[in-house]
Amino acid sequence: MQVVSSSQISGASPVQPSLAALRHGVLPMPNLAWTPEVARETAHLYEKVKSIIPPIEWPFHAPYVKAINDLKKERNAVILAHNYQTPEIYNCVADVVGDSLQLARIAGESDAQVIVQGGVHFMAETSKILSPDKTVLIPDSQAGCSLASSITGADVRALRRQYPGVPIVAYVNTSAEVKAEVDICCTSSNALKVVESLGEDTVIMVPDRFLAANVARQTKVKIIAWHGACEVHERFTAEELLRYREDDPSIKLVAHPECPPEVVEVCDFSGSTAAMIDYVKTRQPRRVLLVTECSMADNVAAENPGVDFVRPCNLCPHMKRITLPKILDSLVHMREEVVIDPILAARARRSVERMIELK
Ligand code: 13P
Ligand code: SF4
Repeated sequence: MQVVSSSQISGASPVQPSLAALRHGVLPMPNLAWTPEVARETAHLYEKVKSIIPPIEWPFHAPYVKAINDLKKERNAVILAHNYQTPEIYNCVADVVGDSLQLARIAGESDAQVIVQGGVHFMAETSKILSPDKTVLIPDSQAGCSLASSITGADVRALRRQYPGVPIVAYVNTSAEVKAEVDICCTSSNALKVVESLGEDTVIMVPDRFLAANVARQTKVKIIAWHGACEVHERFTAEELLRYREDDPSIKLVAHPECPPEVVEVCDFSGSTAAMIDYVKTRQPRRVLLVTECSMADNVAAENPGVDFVRPCNLCPHMKRITLPKILDSLVHMREEVVIDPILAARARRSVERMIELK
């Protein structure tokens, strides 16, 4: 596998000032007091998270949970939350939870007028690309991604000049501008299938060099990779995982394919965040270590009380920018709206829909 790079580094693509507040209006900020009514109305939700959120913390979350759930109805809004969102978001206010592919599919199918993205900026852009007529809000537009910020549309055009005729696959962890330049997108759950569907000897994969290397291990297709990496997953090492296995040979190690290949190699299973969750749900291992962002273990633990989770904690600082207060603020003020130039969005949609149509 060959790795290429450029000196250009871009930030997450900026979100335009919101016009959504003008279209939908601003609502009054709900009362956020902890009252017997709030306790009663949120008791069934606390049941879902009581193993991970101590009782002393619930009175801080519950008024936000109630206010957000009430406002969602008023706004005809859905919250699409990635598996890395914190337990109070994932379990108590999200309408749909999932990996990037699941969230992209739902965004395209939802009847709601407003989508609030519990996730990072590229995920909100993907929702907007697939639902151009809906209002898509991201509670914090600074929620970026080290992969998405490692490559620009100009970088992709330079790759095309360097490798004429070679198809380019973009991981969904990229900006709309990059998606508009490539032939097809992929996620961690379908990367191998996407690469092989192209029927070519050589394929360029951007921007994750580790996802590309993990695909290269499973296919005869020659992969040319960009040099990006996930700042969360690149920190895991095979040595640390082998130490956990030395302490407990029966432990199951389950890795995300954004981890370096030598990490994936020592693990029992590798797959998208949804596939990792499915592994735990169906196999019910006695003890497991999820080699990924640490909120996932909290969320999966709440649903699998019989499994013991070993928790080395690598947080995604971008995912953690999304909080209950910011989600509430989004629904009250209709901000921050994701706006993409319609011509660019239509070009990006081709790449995302081509992936979704692969099934
Ligand atoms: P998934 O598509 O597997 O959920 O991965 C998204 C992501 O950003 C992982 O870091
Ligand atoms: Fe990006 Fe990594 Fe955070 Fe996922 S975990 S959003 S790939 S920085």
